[in-house]
Amino acid sequence: MANRLLFLPLSLLLLLLSPICALNPNPNSDKPSGAHTELIKHGFPTGLLPTNVHKYTVNQTTNEFAVFLHDTCRLTLPPDNYLATYSRKITGKIVDGRITDLNGINVRAFFKWWGITGIRSKGEDLVFEVGMVTAKYPSKNFDESPPCEGKHSSS
Ligand SMILES: *[C@@H]1O[C@H](CO)[C@@H](O)[C@H](O)[C@H]1NC(C)=O
Repeated sequence: MANRLLFLPLSLLLLLLSPICALNPNPNSDKPSGAHTELIKHGFPTGLLPTNVHKYTVNQTTNEFAVFLHDTCRLTLPPDNYLATYSRKITGKIVDGRITDLNGINVRAFFKWWGITGIRSKGEDLVFEVGMVTAKYPSKNFDESPPCEGKHSSS
């Protein structure tokens, strides 16, 4: 009998707390960050950046940006499951529909690591540039910001 009485307040407490938890499922991720908002503003999906963004700066004159992550990041990119790594600091230039001079995002393909140098938003697609080579993927694969699956040793 005493046990049941103890359980009641606890369940009530959880019930009261649940809306708060739903609003902020992961207090450690700074979502939505300025960087994610900036992506949307320029016609890109938020899924291009992982959830662990710490800080974002942009020079409004030159459009040069810097994204600082809490830590390096390793994750699998949809839809072909390429392994990707993010440096702690990612830099580039961003204008509407176009990211250039990108530095800090690498993908593993054909047994090698490739630095993604630019990303273009073209209609429903994203075009990833690796030097002169491009690969096109539907933007909808990047609608959600992915959590990191691990760290990456070289930043
Ligand atoms: C933006 O870049 C320009 C040119 O490099 C520089 O003169 C200016 O100080 C920068 N602005 C900020 C806010 O960093």
